[in-house]
Amino acid sequence: MRIFLDTANLKEIQAGVEYGLVDGVTTNPTTIAKEGRPIEEQIRAICNVVDGDISAEVVSTTAREMIAEGQALARIHPNVVVKCPLIREGIKATFALSSQGIRVNVTLCFTPVQALLAAKAGAYIISPFIGRLDDIAINGMDLIRNIVKIYNNYGYPTKVLAASVRTPIHVLEAALAGAHIATMPFKVLDMLFHHPLTDKGLAAFLADYQKAFQETTVG
Ligand code: G3P
Repeated sequence: MRIFLDTANLKEIQAGVEYGLVDGVTTNPTTIAKEGRPIEEQIRAICNVVDGDISAEVVSTTAREMIAEGQALARIHPNVVVKCPLIREGIKATFALSSQGIRVNVTLCFTPVQALLAAKAGAYIISPFIGRLDDIAINGMDLIRNIVKIYNNYGYPTKVLAASVRTPIHVLEAALAGAHIATMPFKVLDMLFHHPLTDKGLAAFLADYQKAFQETTVG
């Protein structure tokens, strides 16, 4: 499964890259706004740090404007993937941009049939939001499972990206469900390392080793 960071913050992205684990980055208007720099500058800076798919989202809401915005975002760097919302105009823009060879990540997906429309429009990636469904007591992971099943039924090449990931369990279940990608905040990526028995085991190993050789060296 590919691991993406769900942030526009360069410090977090750099820290993730240092683990050697980050395959890409997803941004949205909220995370870009948080960094306070024009989207072109921020996305170009991210492309210089991560050699992978970098999703940049349009903010207009008509197909004609989204297509123009998408073409401009795609010109920033070959690794840019244009993000379009799963609304009627967004699907029109997805079809047009995909037909021009521009890769599109269709975002704000909450149902399997929405995901079917995106695949038929030629989406490169679909982004179902797990956490936001869980927030309203709907099992977000069922959405991932159903989309993977439908895409496999018909051989759609669209990649399933688990988005709105909040916990390590989301990452585990997305991998078990066969999601191609999981995008997560840096905090969640960092939590994936942790297990108390790993820490306890390492401490015991080091203590045993030190005790044995310290005695020999002192002796
Ligand atoms: O890219 C979508 C993702 O950022 C949304 O996450 O946690 O705000 O639901 P969240």
